[in-house]
Amino acid sequence: MREERVHRLLEPVEVAGDGQLGRHGWSLTPGPPRRRPSFGYRGQVADIPFGIDFGGTGIKGAPVDLTAGEFAAERERIKTPSPATPEAVAEVFVDLLGRFPDSTGPVGVTVPGVVRHGVVHSAANIDESWVGTDADRLFTDATGRDVHVVNDADAAGLAEVRYGAAKGRGGLVIVTTLGTGIGSALVYDGVLVPNSELGHLEIDGHDAESRAANSAREREGLSMKHWAKRLTTYYRTLEMLFSPELFVVGGGISKQSEEFLPLVEIDTEIVPATLLNKAGVVGAALCVVEELDE
Ligand code: BGC
Repeated sequence: MREERVHRLLEPVEVAGDGQLGRHGWSLTPGPPRRRPSFGYRGQVADIPFGIDFGGTGIKGAPVDLTAGEFAAERERIKTPSPATPEAVAEVFVDLLGRFPDSTGPVGVTVPGVVRHGVVHSAANIDESWVGTDADRLFTDATGRDVHVVNDADAAGLAEVRYGAAKGRGGLVIVTTLGTGIGSALVYDGVLVPNSELGHLEIDGHDAESRAANSAREREGLSMKHWAKRLTTYYRTLEMLFSPELFVVGGGISKQSEEFLPLVEIDTEIVPATLLNKAGVVGAALCVVEELDE
């Protein structure tokens, strides 16, 4: 039963050319039918996609069962090297993947920056040397696997829409991650518009994430009440610009959402993310299969 379901999920998807969702309702890009990798799922981790979440303190990875949105084997974590240059990170990926000798599927990797066609274009909170790096090529060469990088918030956001807090929700969903920076994912009727970078909106003369990210709360020792005021300003701005159906709030601090979300005064429904620390790994694997950034 499980094997049959995975085959169905991964078979080629027919996508309507008029921007409607394909018959599985999870296609990313309108247009002609897309080629997808075929995964002979044999009830093992062999060919199923692998997700890597590259974070500021840890690099986590696991093969992912996309039918359930769950890890298919226990996740491994390795400390992020310092400095976290692309080359140093590539070495960690080799080590990490080596811990899953049975895994041979494509690898999705999250990066906290703008990613277009495998190249990283910004580095607000990571080593400068990432800018201009063809990360797809670097990691593919280093690991001998088919590796694709994707913006961290896009990965987490898409995972929340497929499996988490925004599952089954239509219209515009905006997923934000509140961490060192503010990440954003814009998903309209299940289709991701990548690299939205709404953490860098200029609000009252400031880069929004410098005032409203969780790191700003910690750095300035803000009470939850005070931080919620800044979040209100931030989400009101997003509300005014985009009129979304729903906001989903992720990032580590979302575990404590009951301490600040009720204090955010906006008109739009706003809910905490539910995948928590699984979102990056699951989202990375999801994006590699959905061929996010060809
Ligand atoms: C980066 C984004 C990233 C976000 C969360 C921002 O500073 O510009 O690309 O998604 O932080 O890590």
